[in-house]
Amino acid sequence: MQAGSIQGRVAIVTGGGSGIGRATALGLAAEGWTVVAADIDEAAAQETARLVGAAAGQASALRVDVTRDEDCAAMVAQTLTRHGRLDAAFNNAGIAGYPLRTVDHSPAQWQRVIDVNLSGVFHCLRHEIPAMQRQGGGAIVNTASIMGLRGAFGGSAYCAAKHGVVGLTKAAALECGRDGIRINAVCPGYIDTPMTTGEEAIFSDKLLDAGLQRAAIRRLARPEEVADMVVWLCSPRASYVTGASFTVDAGVTAS
Ligand SMILES: NC(=O)c1ccc[n+]([C@@H]2O[C@H](COP(=O)([O-])OP(=O)(O)OC[C@H]3O[C@@H](n4cnc5c(N)ncnc54)[C@H](O)[C@@H]3O)[C@@H](O)[C@H]2O)c1
Repeated sequence: MQAGSIQGRVAIVTGGGSGIGRATALGLAAEGWTVVAADIDEAAAQETARLVGAAAGQASALRVDVTRDEDCAAMVAQTLTRHGRLDAAFNNAGIAGYPLRTVDHSPAQWQRVIDVNLSGVFHCLRHEIPAMQRQGGGAIVNTASIMGLRGAFGGSAYCAAKHGVVGLTKAAALECGRDGIRINAVCPGYIDTPMTTGEEAIFSDKLLDAGLQRAAIRRLARPEEVADMVVWLCSPRASYVTGASFTVDAGVTAS
């Protein structure tokens, strides 16, 4: 992909119906990408596509449950049918972990967090990479977290899943470099999305305040501040960048 040649390029965004995914769908579309917003909440994905259209961008929507390998296969197949190509993918769908100590997780709770946050990324990669290989290249960004780089009291399943995403990103990047496919991860800190501040968020104000005490910039991020990093990683400007994990965390992991 050469610089300045975004027009006509196609990107999938999972978790595209909300938060960081929606902001990234809008950010990619503003740069000229045609975006497929994919989410388990199809109405939310459709709303993202509508917002992209309202901003004079190109987008379509589809339903995907990333825990189901067959859904991820269909997501890639439908993207190719609709738009003819796949140049970038943001594997971002995720759920919060349970605020439980390791021994208090039930096996089902543990499995759920791993299924969505880690196996979901694996399922996406399994189908995106062959499509990009056939095309001669592409760029993939996986959403990890600062919890993929450090521990958190009462966050073992989420930490394990997100550390897994960082490792999976490195291994897949090594495998795909010769195919012209770059694979990186983004590690957000505390972002103002429904996961963090919505009605069902697991973070209390007290917990968030405690997290932000470690930050150099003491506020939550706007989802667009993560999206900007992802849009750059997908672009030809990041042509020498692969296998890396980038924090967007106001310096939390610097402390
Ligand atoms: N918000 C933060 O502070 C923060 C920090 C670090 C990492 N993250 C990560 O960023 C990513 C996006 O989170 P967000 O903050 O935008 O949250 P969000 O809740 O706003 O968005 C998550 C989206 O993922 C979708 N989703 C959930 N399960 C799915 C599934 N099985 N298949 C397909 N889609 C599914 C949801 O419907 C939702 O639209 C997640 O991977 C999350 O772990 C968030």
